[in-house]
Amino acid sequence: MKVQLLDLATQYRKIKKEVLKEVKTVCDSQHYVLGRNVSALEAEIAAYCGARFAIGVASGTDAILLALMAAGVGIGDKVATTPFTFFATAGSISRLGATPVFVDIDPKTFNIDPNALERALSRTKGIKAVIPVHLYGQCADMGAINALGRKYRVKIIEDAAQSIGAEYKGKKAGSIGDLGCFSFYPTKNLGCFGDGGMVTTNNEKLAKSVKMLRVHGSNVRYYHDEIGANSRLDEIQAAILRIKLRYLESWTMGRIKNAGRYDGIFKKAGLDGFVDIPFIEEGNRSVYNQYVIRARKRDALRAHLASVGVGSEIYYPLPLHMQKCYKGLGLKKGSFPVSEKAAAEVLALPIYPELTAAEQKFVVSSIAEFYNK
Ligand SMILES: Cc1ncc(COP(=O)(O)O)c(C=O)c1O
Repeated sequence: MKVQLLDLATQYRKIKKEVLKEVKTVCDSQHYVLGRNVSALEAEIAAYCGARFAIGVASGTDAILLALMAAGVGIGDKVATTPFTFFATAGSISRLGATPVFVDIDPKTFNIDPNALERALSRTKGIKAVIPVHLYGQCADMGAINALGRKYRVKIIEDAAQSIGAEYKGKKAGSIGDLGCFSFYPTKNLGCFGDGGMVTTNNEKLAKSVKMLRVHGSNVRYYHDEIGANSRLDEIQAAILRIKLRYLESWTMGRIKNAGRYDGIFKKAGLDGFVDIPFIEEGNRSVYNQYVIRARKRDALRAHLASVGVGSEIYYPLPLHMQKCYKGLGLKKGSFPVSEKAAAEVLALPIYPELTAAEQKFVVSSIAEFYNK
C-alpha cells in the first residue's frame, strides 16, 4: 500500500466537469482580472468567515503584506509574530522595512504563547501589530491576543493561511482580529489551481485600504493616492474557488473525521512515550490542514515511512530566527527553545478528506513497526 501525504488528483476527478465548464465560461468571456467571479467569491468568503468584508489578492503572502500596509506598518516599525511558521509571515514584515519581533510558542498547540507575547509587548518599543498564525488548522488563543491588542493598541492580523473554517469559541478564523489573511495555494483546505489569497476584515476603512492597495493604491484608474502593489485575484482562480467553496465544509468534516480516527488508532497502538498526537484546545474547531504528531527519532521515523510508501512532511524544520536571512537580528539557537524543540520533533501525516480507514491504519502500523511496538 502507498499513502501519499496529499492526494489532489482524487479531489479533482470529482469536480473536474464543473471546473472545466466554469473555466470555459471565463475564457469565453475574455474577462480575466477582477471580474464577477472575484466579486462573488469575496461576498461568499466574507459570509463563510463571518466577516463584513473580503478582498481577493494574488497570494496568501500578499494578503499578509497588504494587511500590514493597511494597518500602517512601514519602515522602522516592529511586528510581533511566531518563529514557528511558514516564512511568508515574517518575510512580509521585513519586505515593508519593518522588523519581526519573534515570540515563542505554546508547546501543545504550536501557536504563539500569549504570556510570552505580553512580555514582548511590554518590553519592546515600536511594536505596531501582531500576527498570530493559526498553525495546522487550529486558531491561536485569540481571546488573550485581542485583549493584548487593545491594551497595547496594536493591530491584530490573523495569518489564517492554513485555517479557513477554523473556529475559536464559535467565531471563524479571519473574523476575530482586525484583519485576516488566507492563502489559496493548492495544498490549502481551499486551494486554487495556482496562487491566490484573500484579506478579510470587519473594519470598512481597512477594507477600503486593502482594496486600493491591491491596485497600485488607486481608486480611480491612473490616479494613485498611495503606493500599493499589483496583487489581484484572477477570474479563473475565483471561478474554481467558488466551486470548491461549496464542498469545503464537507471536506473539512472529512478531515475532522480522519483526525478523530487517527487519534483512536494511535491510542490503541500503545505508542505513548514515542508519539504525541495533536492537542486541540477546548472551544477550538481545528480544520486539520495538517495532522501533526511529535515523534521521537523523528528523522529516522520519516525515512522509515518513506521506505514503506507513506508520505510525510516537516512543517517546519528550521525556526525563522535561525534562518540565514535573519542573521542580522542577532538571535541564535536557544533564543526560542519551544519552537526549536518543535522543529526537531514535528511530523505531518496524510490527513486529506479522501483518506481511507485502511490507509490510516497502515500509516499508524508503519509507525508502530518503526518503534517495534
Ligand atoms: C502560515 C502561512 N502563512 C502564509 C502563507 C503564504 O501563502 P501563499 O503561499 O499563498 O503566498 C502560507 C502558505 O503557504 C502559510 O502556510
